[in-house]
Amino acid sequence: MRNTNELIHDYLKEHVQDDWICVDMTCGHGFDTLELAKLSKKVFSFDIQQQAIDSAKEKTKPFNNIDYILDDHQHVNNYIDFFIHCAIFNLGYLPNGNKKIKTNSESTLIALSKINRWIRVNGLLIITCYRGHPGGINEYNTVLEWLNHQLNYDITTLDYGNKTAPIAFICRKKSFDSR
Ligand SMILES: C[S@@+](CC[C@H](N)C(=O)[O-])C[C@H]1O[C@@H](n2cnc3c(N)ncnc32)[C@H](O)[C@@H]1O
Repeated sequence: MRNTNELIHDYLKEHVQDDWICVDMTCGHGFDTLELAKLSKKVFSFDIQQQAIDSAKEKTKPFNNIDYILDDHQHVNNYIDFFIHCAIFNLGYLPNGNKKIKTNSESTLIALSKINRWIRVNGLLIITCYRGHPGGINEYNTVLEWLNHQLNYDITTLDYGNKTAPIAFICRKKSFDSR
């Protein structure tokens, strides 16, 4: 059975176009950044940890269409002030890294609200939440509540029904107006 991240990559392969501009809001080891770099024209990839960016850079060496940004994704507007086609959040901590350095409800909500404004109609917002770590359920509930107010998205939920497995939302923007 394919896991959640593999299913998301399958979806990206089918939908991301070669003229797209994409933003990876949580670079980590760069698996999502690599997939986006293969498929699209340009990727901006954020992480607060140098260790994550170094790991992703190593993985994406052959690609010259990635800008790595060592900053909190809450500050996304300092770098992105133009329309984009895809934003991806893979929340939580860096696998095999410091589990205390992780995304949280407050900053995720700010980052979601900011990048949402720049996503084009027909563009994608993909969010993967992990409920198995402290704060994870709270963050998942925050994302869910935010999504419940975004009426301008068609949302597909990937949920294996297992509380320790990630749950992901694949959201396609139908219009700019969320009312
Ligand atoms: C689950 S990992 C991401 C996995 C990654 N997308 C991949 O393909 O390997 C989550 C990452 O989010 C980063 N992170 C946590 N809080 C952040 C923040 N406020 N802004 C940007 N990145 C953050 C962590 O440092 C960690 O590397």
